[in-house]
Amino acid sequence: MIDFDTQHILHPYAPSVPPTDMHLVKSASGVYLELESGEKIIDGMSSWWSVIHGYNVPELNAAATEQLSKMSHVMFGGLTHEPAIKLAQTLLKITDKNLEHIFFSDSGSVSVEVALKMAFQYWSSQGNKAKSKILAFSKGYHGDTFGAMSVCDPITGMHTAFEGVLHKNIFAEAPMCMFGDAWDEKYIHDFKEKLEQNHTQIAAVILEPIVQGAGGMRIYSPKLLKRVRELCTKFDVLLILDEIATGFGRTGKLFAYEHGDVTPDILCVGKALTGGYMSLAATLTSKKVMQGVEANGNVLMHGPTFMANPLACAVANASLELLLGSPWRERVQNIETQLNTELKKCEELEIVKEVRVLGAIGVVELKEDVDLSWMTPEFIKRGVWVRPFNKLVYIMPPFIMNKKELSILTVAIYDVINAFSKN
Ligand SMILES: Cc1ncc(COP(=O)(O)O)c(C=O)c1O
Repeated sequence: MIDFDTQHILHPYAPSVPPTDMHLVKSASGVYLELESGEKIIDGMSSWWSVIHGYNVPELNAAATEQLSKMSHVMFGGLTHEPAIKLAQTLLKITDKNLEHIFFSDSGSVSVEVALKMAFQYWSSQGNKAKSKILAFSKGYHGDTFGAMSVCDPITGMHTAFEGVLHKNIFAEAPMCMFGDAWDEKYIHDFKEKLEQNHTQIAAVILEPIVQGAGGMRIYSPKLLKRVRELCTKFDVLLILDEIATGFGRTGKLFAYEHGDVTPDILCVGKALTGGYMSLAATLTSKKVMQGVEANGNVLMHGPTFMANPLACAVANASLELLLGSPWRERVQNIETQLNTELKKCEELEIVKEVRVLGAIGVVELKEDVDLSWMTPEFIKRGVWVRPFNKLVYIMPPFIMNKKELSILTVAIYDVINAFSKN
């Protein structure tokens, strides 16, 4: 099987014939992945932020099975169903009260495409065709589809590979005031200047609130978020918050924008929405935005085949019920406290530049790039699954991880980095 996979199946950002080892997963349960080779390893990645309750969760399995016996899918054009309605009710209840409308889509990237369309159509439907650009932040990441790529970091993102094809947007300096740092107006200067100079062309600002994920795992000041909101209002530009990675408790708040107490015009959620069971995302927006989009008889121009897939919505409903009925705040707080004591130890290693922690996110930034093909087997040998990139060794464990399991992870990270520095 591995041979076939290696020869024919493409994996994320990887060559068609990968030189690195591929690991066959047989099953997964709780915080453990069971490999075909027999090893059981602790998952530090929550399958890229999404598996907040762990794997093979009885409540989510039951929700999927029950929905399966009713219908797994039905088109959303002209038809609707209870799982989508219930999910919309919950999402609108737990997010900012300004948000009143919701569009379900298949993945985070698509929810970003929908958000961008909402922003562009908001202005164009009202006769303003000049607002055709997005102001984004350097070191941001919003997905891999074309619109989403065009607002990812222009250097570390995929702009070079797709130069000439991507929509040209405007980028502000990456957030430089980190979480916990004292605020100074100099930190907003570049953003403010770009907005002042270009606001007549800017439809919306997009950002990942508080944590820039795949663009560098940077954790920044809530005050910056607050100032961005104020300036968007002042210059009449919509604010899109991309909570695809940070939503549903990951940063210690249900949504990261709550750290800055701001109101989004458009909000994207995905990943942990279904507890990592299947792909589902949503774009939420206000009455004001929808009225603008629909001015002069227009409608939002989007409609995927698998929009609001009932199976995914049913699992999302069960996942949200499980999350909201659990002591998730305490669990995330406990993970944060433990990461702060155990992962911080990595700072004593010469090769480590910095350790950053927020909620159930722990990041060790090295001074040099990691060697993934060397590190991965070292982690597996120590019974854990950690997938570093560039200079970053990071984890975002499922919220149900216990103290002992988390210690196995943090000790493995320390030991592997230490061994790497001597290698
Ligand atoms: C902040 C953010 N936005 C968008 C995306 C894209 O989501 P998806 O991979 O589901 O398309 C990601 C994925 O990592 C993300 O972290």
